[in-house]
Amino acid sequence: MKYLITGGAGFIGSNFIRFLLENDSNANVLNIDKLTYAGNLRNLSEVQSKHANRYMFFHGDICDSRCIEQIFQKHVPDYIINFAAETHVDRSIVTPNVFVETNVLGTTNLLNIANAYWYNTDIGNDYAHHKFIQISTDEVYGTLPEDKPELKFTESTPLDPRSPYSASKASADLISLGFAHTYGFPVIITRCSNNYGPLQFPEKLIPVMINNAVNGKSLPVYGDGMNIRDWLYVDDHCDAIIKVLEKGRIGQVYNIGGNNEIRNIDLVKMILKHLGKDESLIQFVKDRPGHDRRYAIDSSKIQSETGWKPKYEFEDRLKFTIDWYLNNSDWLESVKSGEYLKFYEQNYKNR
Ligand code: NAD
Ligand code: DAU
Repeated sequence: MKYLITGGAGFIGSNFIRFLLENDSNANVLNIDKLTYAGNLRNLSEVQSKHANRYMFFHGDICDSRCIEQIFQKHVPDYIINFAAETHVDRSIVTPNVFVETNVLGTTNLLNIANAYWYNTDIGNDYAHHKFIQISTDEVYGTLPEDKPELKFTESTPLDPRSPYSASKASADLISLGFAHTYGFPVIITRCSNNYGPLQFPEKLIPVMINNAVNGKSLPVYGDGMNIRDWLYVDDHCDAIIKVLEKGRIGQVYNIGGNNEIRNIDLVKMILKHLGKDESLIQFVKDRPGHDRRYAIDSSKIQSETGWKPKYEFEDRLKFTIDWYLNNSDWLESVKSGEYLKFYEQNYKNR
């Protein structure tokens, strides 16, 4: 099977490519990535050396119709998994345009070209076995109150995105569902909670805190630190995507979560404890505008329909992740380029 993976040089995409090639000897991967600040071919160096005969990289933009059409002309993919996106909420507050370009227009471009090629090449115009997985996020549902722990996001929770990032992802979800309803296009949407693991760019909570603690810098906790996220190890997310591809129903949405709600401040303290660093490094800083208070996912649909459930235990994988960053300090240094420093300065200066 030929998989077109978009955004495969980013955090989840690169973990997914490794996971897929290791677990399915029949999988062939075409990876298209624009290599923005968040994309890094070093994330795939092991894949490149171990699976060179089943892996191909294209440097390109999902918004570029010619580039996507050329890939389709040469290698009509069986499946598309669309990870490519601008993904950082704080950046979306400063530069929303690029989020609309990639997340909305880029996704629409992919859907449109896949629709044309798959429809024309499939016998009987029924799209045969083809599938398009749109990787979305739990943030499209907005926020939950912390005093009602029984409330969780289900697939029928109304969309209520509250940042330019989540609004762009919700828009892409609606366009995807529009394709499913109008053309019968074979798209399935997944909405996952916060991922953690190796290769995450050091702008997101866990790697920011590890990097700062290791370097003796203060740990910037937004607001009162009581915001809650539901954390899932990245390989559990990869496994869920494969289960959805195999067993999910076309035109459906599947929530994916770790059933693992943690307050930011407690997570930061766990990181400091594992690193043997003092809690005095914690600094409460000005809150993120529009900061969602709590995310929590009800994953009963994916569990009952596909048999997926998370395998990993949080504390164990958090330690593994921290140790990965400690043992890969050259990777961490290499991604902290001029662009990273510029963003860090801009995001944290006035907090
Ligand atoms: P990331 O920022 O680490 O990687 C994004 C990748 O997309 C990068 O390699 C980047 O170069 C590439 N990219 C950006 N714009 C592109 C374009 N126009 N054309 C081609 N490539 C482009 O992101 P991530 O954390 O790996 O997230 C991957 C996907 O999963 C996203 O769609 C995100 O919304 C979703 N998601 C992420 C999380 C999370 O916790 N990280 C949780 C749920 C869903
Ligand atoms: O829920 C899924 C989403 O999780 C994905 O769709 C996004 O792509 C991904 O970035 C992530 O969004 P969050 O905003 O939840 O992740 P982030 O790591 O930026 O922040 C996690 C929490 O930590 C959030 O409450 C803000 C807080 N935070 C974050 C940073 C970077 C801090 O307190 N300090 C920080 O320096």
